[in-house]
Amino acid sequence: MGAGKFVYAYFLHSFFSRLSTGDLMTEPSEQGAQAVSPQQKPEISETQKGKNQEAINRGRRRLVLACVFGYLGVNFLMVLRYFFPRTLFQPNTQFNIGYPSDFDIGVNQQFLQSHRVWVRKDPGQLFVIHAKCTHLGCTPDWEPTQHIFHCPCHGSEYDIDGINFAGPAPRPMDRCWISKQADGTILCNKAMLFLDEPYAGIDQFNEPHAILTI
Ligand code: FES
Repeated sequence: MGAGKFVYAYFLHSFFSRLSTGDLMTEPSEQGAQAVSPQQKPEISETQKGKNQEAINRGRRRLVLACVFGYLGVNFLMVLRYFFPRTLFQPNTQFNIGYPSDFDIGVNQQFLQSHRVWVRKDPGQLFVIHAKCTHLGCTPDWEPTQHIFHCPCHGSEYDIDGINFAGPAPRPMDRCWISKQADGTILCNKAMLFLDEPYAGIDQFNEPHAILTI
């Protein structure tokens, strides 16, 4: 046993010995009174003994109550915690991007921060690209001078339509569901994606709502 453990054990032994004999529960003034009157010692000793025992019992009761209430309190907090789930708040997957005339020809980054999409407009058509690299899911950067999307994670590159041509990305970036509303604005739903997976024979880029004729 190391010196530290020995001192610790000695301290615990001393503490509990004093607790069992009532030394810790006895008021200093009472101890002093015990020493002052030797003639009355037997009578005071009996009284003192009763007081000590009562103090010990009171201390034990407090200790037990503290343990019980502590245990109940911790359990109550744990139950309370279930009423506050760790919810991850994400933007609504469905949102309105406005009129086709709001966008210039090319790539618009207006909704990149808020909804992680680019609006891609060409003469006569418009579609929305989900800004998520198809390799491991990073957000690529739009490079306006080169007219490409570049993924900073592992170097995948996509052309202006989001078609992959370099790096480890296995397929083009997905496109979001879009629909023209009665008022002429475009509703976009990011929860519905269209894929182009040449190796699996999937080509959904020309399906209705993957692209709009404007
Ligand atoms: S996540 Fe984009 S290249 Fe790896």
